[in-house]
Amino acid sequence: MQVEMRREGGDLLFYLYKEKQRVGFCRAREEEERINLVGFEISPQWQSRGYGSFFLKKVLALTGGFDRDKESCHRIVSPGQEAGRALCRKYGFLPPAGGEEGAWVRLRRPELSAVAFIQQNLSRWLKPGGFFIDATCGNGHDTVFLCRLAGPSGRVLGLDIQPQAVEAANRRLHQEGLEKIGRAVQADHARLADWALPASADCVVFNFGYLPGADHRLFTRPASSLPALEAALEILRPGGVLSACLYSGGVNGDEEKKAVTAYLEALPPERYTVLICRFANRPETAPLPCFVLKH
Ligand SMILES: C[S@@+](CC[C@H](N)C(=O)[O-])C[C@H]1O[C@@H](n2cnc3c(N)ncnc32)[C@H](O)[C@@H]1O
Repeated sequence: MQVEMRREGGDLLFYLYKEKQRVGFCRAREEEERINLVGFEISPQWQSRGYGSFFLKKVLALTGGFDRDKESCHRIVSPGQEAGRALCRKYGFLPPAGGEEGAWVRLRRPELSAVAFIQQNLSRWLKPGGFFIDATCGNGHDTVFLCRLAGPSGRVLGLDIQPQAVEAANRRLHQEGLEKIGRAVQADHARLADWALPASADCVVFNFGYLPGADHRLFTRPASSLPALEAALEILRPGGVLSACLYSGGVNGDEEKKAVTAYLEALPPERYTVLICRFANRPETAPLPCFVLKH
């Protein structure tokens, strides 16, 4: 079985083929951040054999319905009779309240990751045109995120102690066409003060831990993380934000998490607002998002 996708104006058309025979069709139309699935059908002679389930799952997947980071909303305009309704239920579509006729809706909110939570908050707090620092740039995902927030009038500096991370981050910035906004340099974040003036940065981001895809024994440690946090608070301007994602368990142990949270908890409340945002129903070792807002 094969699904073919074509574009027609703003719509996406999906065709299900069994060998060379077309056995299913669906049109997806995006309206106000919702995807309307219109005319979903499986040819009558191919119904009740699992093709509908395969096809609907594919259409949902190809239109963001299983996205790991983004919320999605799908509507099926007319789910048809019993079999169509059962299929909709299987994939989480719900009928209109009160048993009325109308579109069935599937709203999916994926599990929130610590990094996504941090980024959602930074998007709210930071303004385009700022000076942002990624103090653990790694493969450059956070640097790219910060460059998009900073926009063409902003500036982003990424730091990492490992040369392959700096190369990877600069490569990613280039691929994304963001090299005029951001750049990465090889440096220990404990020496942040060498890279920015006091009270000059709008944001400093730390995503502690090890470089994904590299030697996991090389991870951030309190001996440099604590001086780095101290330096970051000095270079933040009033109104600026520091974010930190802390990891524990596995090779990291919990030494860094304990040391950093103790440091943050001791910051004077008249100068800083500190938020430590624990995922209350996840294991103790779940990544821990933290924020410091400088007054
Ligand atoms: C979890 S990774 C960062 C992931 C990264 N933000 C991304 O988007 O891919 C942590 C990074 O911190 C770096 N690191 C460890 N100690 C450091 C130090 N003292 N100064 C700067 N970077 C350090 C590691 O090399 C690693 O790349």
